[in-house]
Amino acid sequence: MSQKTKGEFEKYIQQQIDLGYNEVYMPFDSRPKAQAKVRALSIERFSESKNLAQLEKTIADCQRCTLWKGANKLVFGTGNSNADIMFVGEAPGADEDMQGKPFVGRAGKLLDKMLVDVGISRDEVYITNVIKHRPPGNRDPLPDEVEPCEPYLHMQIKYIKPKVLCALGRIAGQTLLQTKMNLGDMRKRWFDYQGIKLMVTYHPAAILRSMGYMEPTMEDLRKLLAEVTKMREAE
Ligand code: URA
Repeated sequence: MSQKTKGEFEKYIQQQIDLGYNEVYMPFDSRPKAQAKVRALSIERFSESKNLAQLEKTIADCQRCTLWKGANKLVFGTGNSNADIMFVGEAPGADEDMQGKPFVGRAGKLLDKMLVDVGISRDEVYITNVIKHRPPGNRDPLPDEVEPCEPYLHMQIKYIKPKVLCALGRIAGQTLLQTKMNLGDMRKRWFDYQGIKLMVTYHPAAILRSMGYMEPTMEDLRKLLAEVTKMREAE
């Protein structure tokens, strides 16, 4: 299917959903019909969820992009569902795909260590990714994959209501801020995400590639903790 046809197809499904239908009639091929039905239903179902646990359950069989075909497990997110601090990474890697948990591989172990070093325990934070299924070969997620997955992230933030959001890396920053800014321009400043303070820092995988990013990231994490502490004290 060409990109144009795919775009029109998705627009048509969205129109049907907006009109209140949860099935679409596709006379030319039974397979797209079945897929359209799954997609339409998953859009309906996730938007009806009332809390984080319900959202996790309803998207467990998500097929809104094609990544589910090559993935082992959907990686929803882990941690404190009332966290003051929420981290958002890019997408699951091989270890995360096997375990169904975010940041459990090398990058995750480094993140854990950095959090401990600045005085943040992993149990007190919530961690998730922009993309919930692993892209093959750990490539960057494509716009076609980010777009259908994005609403899940926004809903997770809505349910958790963190005091502070920390985007790990360019993709998370660009997705949350709906911008094309590069990482350098997003760093070292506070943004507002629907009333929540948001900072962007380096992705732990970038630090594994170049240790020069370690100290600037630690600086960012200290700033993040200082901000949350200030907000807690003001309550
Ligand atoms: N990289 C990410 O962005 N997320 C993970 O969960 C693991 C590695």
